[in-house]
Amino acid sequence: MILPGASTAIRSSLRAPAYLIRGGISAMNEMARAPRLRGDARLVSSRPVGRDQPGRRIAGKYELVERAGEGGMATVWRAITLGAEGFERPVALKRAHPALAIDPQFVAMFVEEARVNATLDHPNIVHIHDFGSDEHGEHYLVMEWVEGLDLRRLVHAHALVEEQVAWPIAVAIVVEVLRGIYAAHTRETPDGDAAPIFHRDVTPQNVMLAVSGAVKITDFGLARATDRARVTNPGTVKGKLGYLAPELTLDHPPSALTDLFGVGIVLWETLAGERLFDGASDVEILQKVARASVPPIMAIRPDVPPALAEAVHTALARDPAHRFPDVRAMGLALRRVLRDHLDEAPDMHAIAMEVRDAREQLGLGTGRRSVSSLDVEHARRVRAALFGTSSDERDASGAIPLELSRKKH
Ligand SMILES: Nc1ncnc2c1ncn2[C@@H]1O[C@H](COP(=O)(O)OP(=O)(O)OP(=O)(O)O)[C@@H](O)[C@H]1O
Ligand SMILES: [Mg+2]
Repeated sequence: MILPGASTAIRSSLRAPAYLIRGGISAMNEMARAPRLRGDARLVSSRPVGRDQPGRRIAGKYELVERAGEGGMATVWRAITLGAEGFERPVALKRAHPALAIDPQFVAMFVEEARVNATLDHPNIVHIHDFGSDEHGEHYLVMEWVEGLDLRRLVHAHALVEEQVAWPIAVAIVVEVLRGIYAAHTRETPDGDAAPIFHRDVTPQNVMLAVSGAVKITDFGLARATDRARVTNPGTVKGKLGYLAPELTLDHPPSALTDLFGVGIVLWETLAGERLFDGASDVEILQKVARASVPPIMAIRPDVPPALAEAVHTALARDPAHRFPDVRAMGLALRRVLRDHLDEAPDMHAIAMEVRDAREQLGLGTGRRSVSSLDVEHARRVRAALFGTSSDERDASGAIPLELSRKKH
C-alpha cells in the first residue's frame, strides 16, 4: 500500500501524467481500505450477484433474453418488458459486473449516472426508461433498445474485409453524435438555468447505430474513466484512457471541450480504422494523450478532403483554445464539408444500409438479433481464418483489438 504523501514523489520519479499516478494510487488505496469506502451501504446488495441468465425475471417487470454486450464495468442484456396482455417491448437492461455491484462507491456512482441520464431526452441520445433495484437489491438500468451495432463494431466489420468506413458516412455519423452531445451541453433546468451535462466518455463503443439509420450516443455522464480508476483495478480502464482529452491528465475538469476532443478521437479512429492513442501500458497511453500528438489523418486517408482533415485536427488540438468553440461549431464545419463535396450528403437510409452491411459482415444478419459476445466470437473466428489472429489478442471485452483487425493501410 502506498503511504500518504508518496503520490508526488512517485509521480515525479516516473514522470507519468498526474492523472495516472493519482488514479492508480487511489485505486490501490481504495481496495486496501475497502471497509472505509464512501457511498451509501444501503444501496448495495449484501448477497452475491451474478445470477443473471436468459429467462430470468427482474423486478417482475423485465425478462432477460440474451447478453447483448459487455464493457469494463457492466453487462448489457437484451430484455423484454412484461406488460399487460402479452405486450412486449425490447429494452436494453444494464447490470454492473458482480465485483463492482458490491462496491458501495461504484453503486453510488451507478445511481447518480442513472439520475443524470434520465433527464436527457433527444433523438440522438439513447433514452433511459427505468432504473431500480430488484428483489435482491441488485440495481438495473433500463434503456431504449437499439437494434443495430456500435460504431466500434462497424469499423471492425470494415477491417475484416480490409476496408475503411467511407468518409461521408463517418462524417454523417459524427454530425448526429454532435447533435446529441450539443443537446446535453445546452441542457437547462425547468426554470431555464443552464445545467449542462458533459458526456465524459465519448468512445466508438458508446455510439450506437440502429438498423433504421438512427445514430444515438449512450452512457451519458456514465462512470468516467477518471472515476473508474478510483473504484476499479486501473487495468480495467485501460481501453478508455485513450479517449481522454489532454487537459484531463492535468486534472482539469471535464468540459464541453473535453467532449469535443473525444468526438475528434472517434472521428479520427473511424476514418483511420485504428486506435489513435494506444500503448502497451497505461503510462504510455496517458503520455500520448498528454502530448496529443495526432498523426495527420490525410497520411492514412489520402481520400479525405483537406477541409475535413482540418476539422479533425482542429477538434484534436492539444490546447482547448485552438479547438472549435463548441460542439455545434464542429457540427457546422462537418456539415459544410459534406455540402461542399457531395451532391447529396448521406442520409439515415445510407447509414441504415451501412449498418445492415456491417451486421451481415459480422454474421449478425439483419433480423432482430443483438450484437452479443457470441457474435464477437464469430467475428474473431472469421478474423482468425483470414489472418491467423489468436484468442490471446482479444481485449478485455472479448472484442478484437482494432489495430489487429486492420491488416494494412
Ligand atoms: N441501448 C443499447 N441497445 C443495444 N445494445 C447496446 C445498448 N447499449 C449498449 N449496447 C451494447 O452493449 C455493449 C456493452 O455496453 P457497455 O456500455 O456495458 O460497455 P462499453 O460501452 O462497450 O464499454 P464500457 O462500459 O467499458 O465503457 C456495447 O458495446 C453495445 O454493443
Ligand atoms: Mg457503453
